[in-house]
Amino acid sequence: MVQRVDVSGKQGYPLFLGAELGELGSHLQNTYGQDGHYLLISNTTVAKHYAEKLSQGCHGLKLDQIIVPDGEEEKSLERISTLTEHALDLSADRDTIVLALGGGVIGDLAGFFASIFMRGIRYIHIPTTLLSQIDSSIGGKVAVNHPSGKNILGSFHMPQAVWTDFTTLQTLPWKEMRNGLAETIKHTLVAEPDLFEFIDDHADDIKGRNDKILKEMALRSLAVKVKIVSEDEREKGIRMLLNLGHSFGHALETEEDYKGITHGEGVSIGVAAAVFLAKGRDLMTGKQMERTLDLLRRLDLPTTVTGHDPHVLLQHMAADKKNKAGHKILILPVGIGKSTIVKDCSDEEILRAWESVIR
Ligand SMILES: NC(=O)c1ccc[n+]([C@@H]2O[C@H](COP(=O)([O-])OP(=O)(O)OC[C@H]3O[C@@H](n4cnc5c(N)ncnc54)[C@H](O)[C@@H]3O)[C@@H](O)[C@H]2O)c1
Repeated sequence: MVQRVDVSGKQGYPLFLGAELGELGSHLQNTYGQDGHYLLISNTTVAKHYAEKLSQGCHGLKLDQIIVPDGEEEKSLERISTLTEHALDLSADRDTIVLALGGGVIGDLAGFFASIFMRGIRYIHIPTTLLSQIDSSIGGKVAVNHPSGKNILGSFHMPQAVWTDFTTLQTLPWKEMRNGLAETIKHTLVAEPDLFEFIDDHADDIKGRNDKILKEMALRSLAVKVKIVSEDEREKGIRMLLNLGHSFGHALETEEDYKGITHGEGVSIGVAAAVFLAKGRDLMTGKQMERTLDLLRRLDLPTTVTGHDPHVLLQHMAADKKNKAGHKILILPVGIGKSTIVKDCSDEEILRAWESVIR
């Protein structure tokens, strides 16, 4: 059964959760009528699995497709430029609605394209990775990368709707599942202690892709993001809590030039470092720390990394966008299921946290 959850805010929008790809066409007809023009933007991998199913459901609607190569490097201004040419060739106009079918890369790319094409057109995200279903499709952040940094050029552009078919997770490679699982563990630490227990009880079912368990986990994980972005649409306050583990993780990703380590691995090691730091401040007990590290490991996520210099990583953290007036802003867990924004972490504490995760 499809569940509708509304993300509130100045520009609210509905999430249709547990929806079927093949049913999107009926939703479009009922919502926008028969005459609209739709532009499906996807990549080669996702299109191979799902474009036909989605198109068949859109029978009778004017639907064009643009399929781009797979990969993070597609989040570029060059790709925005070719998308623009292609869209104009297909007579896209201000009433065209973009359908972004794919993971976070396609969501960010097609969403950013929609945010600037003819000063902004509507888009619907159809997320197909765990990460995009529980995280990136919610909150309206869209962006492309620039040689000077990741997601440097972006905007807030809320989708018309998010259409989530959890069965797409069945074809997602495990390496990609882990990226979403790292964010899910983060969500449990930030605000959902019961989900932590659920995942702890069902780690093997999750690894075995039990459909029902995956869906329940995803629904509860995305609810954390919905609640937080509904309260803080533009990241002025509590939305920052979602960065738990990310300041450490980004430092690692930057040091490895976004190639050696996946985002999920960075977040997982970052969460481990944050947990060590929290334990050092008595925000967590030793048992809570061990349980968190153990759960990450049981989901095949790393909690240590080799061959890095803590001082170099500390320097990368100094460049974090979230820092204010020279202070490093860190999000730390308080036990399991609560988190806090900390502005007074000394460099020595951060170095000790790095040393705890570097082998
Ligand atoms: N906008 C936000 O709020 C936000 C939040 C977090 C991350 N992001 C961005 O999201 C991106 C990462 O997203 P991602 O982890 O979804 O990666 P992704 O979009 O690159 O997808 C991962 C891989 O899985 C493939 N894939 C997708 N769905 C599939 C399916 N159902 N079956 C088989 N293969 C499938 C893709 O083709 C790709 O090769 C990054 O660019 C990151 O910056 C954005």
